Order: sequence, then structure tokens, then C-alpha cells
Amino acid sequence: MKRVIVSGALGKMGSEVIKAVGKETDMQVVAGADPAVETKPHNQYGELAVFTNLEEAISATNPDVVVDFTSPSVVMENIKTCMNKGIRVIVGTTGITSDQIGELQASVTRDDWAALIAPNFAIGALLMMRFAQEAAKYFPHVEIIEYHHRQKQDAPSGTAIKTAEMINQALSGQQPANPDQSEMLAGARGAKSGRVHIHSLRLPGYVAHQEIVFSSSGQLLTIRHDSTHRESFMPGVLLAIRKIHTLTGVVYGLEQLLW
Ligand SMILES: NC(=O)c1ccc[n+]([C@@H]2O[C@H](COP(=O)([O-])OP(=O)(O)OC[C@H]3O[C@@H](n4cnc5c(N)ncnc54)[C@H](O)[C@@H]3O)[C@@H](O)[C@H]2O)c1
Repeated sequence: MKRVIVSGALGKMGSEVIKAVGKETDMQVVAGADPAVETKPHNQYGELAVFTNLEEAISATNPDVVVDFTSPSVVMENIKTCMNKGIRVIVGTTGITSDQIGELQASVTRDDWAALIAPNFAIGALLMMRFAQEAAKYFPHVEIIEYHHRQKQDAPSGTAIKTAEMINQALSGQQPANPDQSEMLAGARGAKSGRVHIHSLRLPGYVAHQEIVFSSSGQLLTIRHDSTHRESFMPGVLLAIRKIHTLTGVVYGLEQLLW
């Protein structure tokens, strides 16, 4: 039986993870960690202990794995707490930069520990990124539009950044597709990751959605994925809980466990 702590337990994703793990027979949530417990009612969890602080939760319950869905401002500290305590951690929190991932990779000193950092746990989103990398070999003009709910703190989304990185790898060596342009209003052409422009929409009514629009002469190809409910991320989170013991060090992307 895998013993799981959910960090960010009272948040939208944390609550969904507690529900999903509760339906499985080979894992259980032994505690939550969330500073909001001081002010926010959480009686929907019955007897589950929710600590204000991850370190205390780990010391009190000796988990096998921590699942972190918190915020970009606290996630690095939570990962380091897990590393120091030797507890493997699955990180769904987005907004972690590639420099921060490099910093973590350089600071790992033990081979019995792993962090899986996954900007998207939905299988459809992973397939979308994979198909986009394939399409980029044939369509040199490409832009990304991502749509999220209003409360999302980071922009562009972790998924958009990862998608752009994968597309840039596939595009490497080709001539820049977009000529220099001027912006009449700053930001009009979105953010830019390598060769790929990214446009971020934040509107009530969305959960997590992304479109990758490719074009070449006389044709357009659009690859789109929609997470219409946070349940879409749960099979990936459960897979990661079951398999994280097979990983060592800091691993980026759920696809490392899939293909
Ligand atoms: N990887 C994925 O598939 C995926 C999918 C959806 C969302 N996300 C990301 O997950 C993160 C959480 O999203 P959300 O919608 O649940 O946000 P949310 O704001 O609803 O929840 C975050 C929770 O973390 C808590 N928190 C803050 N500081 C903490 C700390 N130090 N320790 C423990 N808990 C702390 C907050 O009190 C809050 O309850 C975001 O970064 C979001 O982008 C990732």
C-alpha cells in the first residue's frame, strides 16, 4: 500500500487527487499539507489530517510519496523538503523554469530519490505534444494558443512551454518562419519560446485547453486538446504514484513513464 501526502490538499487539484487516490486499493492518502487549513473549512475530508506545513506532515506520517499541486512561489521549497527527507515527489505544479530544474538536478546527492515534474498529466495533452513535434517536421510556421481559468498564476502554461520546446527541437536547422514584425501594442504577438509564439488566454469557463496551429502554403493544420474537467489529470497522477519508484533524480514530463 503506497502512503501518499497531498501537498496543496485544499486546492482544486489537491482535492481531486485526494478523491482519486481514495478510490484505489493499492494506495492511500495519509495526510494533506496546506497552510489554508487555518482558515478554510475542509470537513469534506472526514478524518484526514491536514497539516499547515509539508515538513511536519512528512515527519508525522512517514509517506512513500508526496504529490504537490501548490503554486510556483512555494513549489521549489517543497521539492527541497522532500529531497532532504528522502521522500519521492510528484510535482504537478507549473511555473518551474528550466534553470530551476537544472538547479535541482545538480543538487541531487542520493540515488534512492526522485522528483517527477510533469506540466501536464492528461494523456491527451501528452499525445497532442507528441503529434505537434511530428507535424513540426513538415509545417515550419506554427503558433500556440492556450486557454486557462482566471485563477491560473503562471503564463504561459507549463504545457505550452514544453510544447514549444519540443516543436523547436523538431524545427531546428530550418530557416526562421516568421519575418521581423513590429507590434503597435506591446505583447500583441504573444510570448516567444525559440521560434514559437505563444498566446495565453485567462477566462472564466475554461479549465485547461491548447491549440497548436501549423501552416504551410495553402493549408492549415490545428491540433487541439481540451481538459474539460480536472478528472482528466488523475489517471496520469495515479500512474506516477505507482511508478515513481522506478525513477532516479529529477525527471521532466510524464511521458518518461509512458513511452
Ligand atoms: N500538471 C498538471 O497536469 C496540472 C493540471 C492542472 C493544474 N496544474 C497546476 O497545479 C497547481 C495547483 O493548481 P490548483 O488549480 O489546484 O490551484 P489552487 O490555488 O486551487 O490550489 C493550490 C493550493 O496550494 C496551497 N498551498 C500554498 N502554499 C502551500 C504550501 N507551502 N504547501 C502546501 N500547500 C500550499 C494553497 O493554499 C491552495 O489550497 C498550479 O500550478 C497549476 O498550474 C497542473
